[in-house]
Amino acid sequence: MPQTAAPRPRVLSGIQPDFSLHLGNYLGALRNWARDQDRFENFFCIVDLHALTQHPDPERLRSLTLELAAMYMACGLDPNRCEIFVQSHVPAHTQLCWILETLTPMGWLERMTQFKARSQAQGSERINTGVFAYPVLQAADILLYDADVVPVGEDQRQHIELCRDLANRLNSQRGDVLKVPAALISQVGARVMGLDTPDEKMSKSLAVDRPGHAVLLLDPPDVVRRKVARATTDTEPAVHKPLGAGVANLLEIYAALHEISVDAALEAFEGKSYSILKGAVADAIVDALRPIQARYADLRGDEEGLRRVLAESAARVHLVADATLQRVQKAVGLR
Ligand code: TYM
Repeated sequence: MPQTAAPRPRVLSGIQPDFSLHLGNYLGALRNWARDQDRFENFFCIVDLHALTQHPDPERLRSLTLELAAMYMACGLDPNRCEIFVQSHVPAHTQLCWILETLTPMGWLERMTQFKARSQAQGSERINTGVFAYPVLQAADILLYDADVVPVGEDQRQHIELCRDLANRLNSQRGDVLKVPAALISQVGARVMGLDTPDEKMSKSLAVDRPGHAVLLLDPPDVVRRKVARATTDTEPAVHKPLGAGVANLLEIYAALHEISVDAALEAFEGKSYSILKGAVADAIVDALRPIQARYADLRGDEEGLRRVLAESAARVHLVADATLQRVQKAVGLR
């Protein structure tokens, strides 16, 4: 009898179209999504509703959404093997979000590190409730598609935990309604630190006013080399243990790009000067970005093609999302 192939586990992840993407987004997320696309059934979302919490200029949000679609594909996501869609094109995200909000204690959201950092910086009068409820919308993004795994960087671990808690809460109240997903976080490259301040995570928003903070995926080679050459190290002349945070970060970037362990990278550079390490890291970044930048230019130029991919994908994923939403609506008594 012919054997039918076992269904592949389903993956869902997303990125906000808020600012330009950087090396951390690539190593912590995009690169892994592209590399693993044959292992999974793939759902990749452009989370524009999340970006709204930062009040972007409308024209800029429209443009960043298309840029991100082009970047997904430039990094290797193949629209024939992956769903690539925009969150706001699928109304079920906000519909499930509301139901999940009614199950979410405020205390869970108050404990979220990202929320705490933003509310401390801005104060509760100025911060919008979208920032507070953000992890619930993220949970809806994941749970709607019955995702098995969610490949993300280390900074998203807490949000995935909250998503799991919400799924378990509904399941314990109303029977097995939702699939409980697991975070998928790489050993290497899941927390790339700022080049200028290696005790701070590399972040899209910090890179806006601090060009030395991050290598952006569209930076030309000379800019990459300059940024890496200026990266903060420490006063030691060469690579030795104990490693300073900046040196450890450079080794981690090198290891992630060459797909080796951090120990192997340390072995390769032990005793060598920082300028040798920085040269090798810059080379590795330039080599990785070159094909991405070449593909990006073509893809971004074809707006009609990008819109077509997004529309066709939304039409397909909408069916998956609606089926889950209806299951949940039934379980809670809305149908
Ligand atoms: P966002 O847009 O901030 O980041 C996108 C992805 O990049 C990873 N990342 C990093 N990885 C390594 N080092 C870094 N310095 C670094 N900075 C960012 C993030 O972990 C993420 O994987 N809340 C999410 C978006 C989201 C989402 C979802 C993700 C909304 N719904 C559903 C997964 C599933 C966010 O703001 O990512």
